[in-house]
Amino acid sequence: METFQYRDGRFFCEEVPVESIAERFGTPTYVYSRNRILENFRRLVDGFRDISCLVCYSVKANSNLAILRLLREAGAGFDIVSGGELARVERVGANPRAVVFSGVGKTASEIDAALRARILMFNVESAGELEMIESRVRGAASPEPPGISIRINPNVAAETHPYISTGETIHKFGVAPEEALELYCRAAASPYLKVRGIACHIGSQILAVEPFVEALDQVLAVAQRLRALGIGVEDVDLGGGFGIRYAAEPPLDVNRLAREIIARVRGASYRLILEPGRALVGDAGILVTRVLYVKQNPLKNFVITDAGMNDLMRPALYGSYHEIVAVGQSSEKRVRADVVGPLCETGDFLARDRELPEAKPGELLALLNAGAYGYVLASNYNTRPRSAEVLVDGEQIQLVGRRESVEELMSRETP
Ligand code: LLP
Repeated sequence: METFQYRDGRFFCEEVPVESIAERFGTPTYVYSRNRILENFRRLVDGFRDISCLVCYSVKANSNLAILRLLREAGAGFDIVSGGELARVERVGANPRAVVFSGVGKTASEIDAALRARILMFNVESAGELEMIESRVRGAASPEPPGISIRINPNVAAETHPYISTGETIHKFGVAPEEALELYCRAAASPYLKVRGIACHIGSQILAVEPFVEALDQVLAVAQRLRALGIGVEDVDLGGGFGIRYAAEPPLDVNRLAREIIARVRGASYRLILEPGRALVGDAGILVTRVLYVKQNPLKNFVITDAGMNDLMRPALYGSYHEIVAVGQSSEKRVRADVVGPLCETGDFLARDRELPEAKPGELLALLNAGAYGYVLASNYNTRPRSAEVLVDGEQIQLVGRRESVEELMSRETP
C-alpha cells in the first residue's frame, strides 16, 4: 500500500486524511508515517541479510525521539555526531554497543560523555582528535579503552550537491589512507585505545553505486594493509548517503549496491556497518502547510504559504526539489508559480517556477519527501516557532513534537 496517496480526492497518510491532522494540530506540521519508516529499515536490513551487518541510523536526518525509539525497537543502532544526539539515543534506551560517533569536531565533554556511555566506537577524523580521545581516557577515573576507527577520505567524487559531498581531499572530512595507517599504528600502540573498525562516508543523496564501491575498495585496501601490520579491524563502516527519489531521478539501486558490497565483504571476517539517514526517513515524512495568499505581478505568480525556509530549509540551501501536492480536492486549472514563505528573504522559497494546481487562500498543500533534513534543519528566524510533528500509525495519530510557542522562544533571554 502506498503510504501517501489520494482517496476520493483527499490526500492520506496511511489511514488518516492529512486534512484532519491540519485541523487538529494546525500548520505548518510535519507528518511522518511509522510504517513507511519500518518498511524502509526492514528492506535495507533484508538486502544485507547474507552478511553480518549493523544498520546505525544517522540521527541527524531526523532526531525526533519517537522515530529514534521506533528504530531502536526495530533493531537499529545509531550514528551520532554530537553530545546532544548521544543524549537523544540514550533517552530512547539505545544499546551503546550499537552507537558510532562521527564528526570532525568532537569536544572534550562530548568525548567524555561517549566514554561514560561506552559506545561501540569513535570514527576519528584527525590526529588531534585521536590524541584528545586518548588523553580523555587516560584522565578518566576508571579508564577503559574505547573502540577506535579512523575515517578514511578516499578522494572519491560522489556526484551530489557540493554542500553534501564529503569524500574528496578538498573536504574537511576524514584522513587520507597514508595518514590513517599512521594513526592506526599510534592507536594500536596505546593502552588507552582499542582499534575496532575503519570508516568512511562520501556524501549524501548519492544515486550511483560506483562511488560507494570505489570508496569501499579503498577502505578494504587499507584494512588489508593494517592486517599485514598485525592490526585487525572488525567493523567496516561504509557510512550513509543512499539517495532517494525526489523528482524523476532514479533512486539508488540498493539491491545492486548490496550485491557489490556483499561480494567484497563476504569471506572476510568483517562486520559491515551502514549509517543511513535519508533512506530510512526521507520518503516517510511530509510538511503540511496552508496557503495564506496568492498574488501576481507582471512577471510571476506567487503562492504564499505559512511554512517558509525556517521550516524547510532544503530548497533555499541546496535548491532542492520537493514535490508539492494539494491536500484537498485540487483544482483542474494549473498555474506556474513560486511557492514562497512569509520570511523577509528572497531565498525564502519552497519551490520556484513550479506548475501546480491553482491554490486558493486557506487551502492546504503538502511538500513530499520531507522526512529527512526537514524539521532538524528548522530555525526560529523571524521569531517563528518551530512546527508540530505528528506520527501516523494506521488510523492512529500521535503528536510526537509539540509546536513551539513564542513565549518559549523568548524564555531564555533577558530583556
Ligand atoms: N554518516 C555521516 C558521517 C554523515 O555525515 C551523514 C550525513 C550520514 C551518515 C547520513 O547520510 P544520509 O544517509 O542521510 O545521506 N542536509 C543535507 C544532508 C546532509 C548530510 C550530512 N551527513 C540535505 O538536506 O540534503
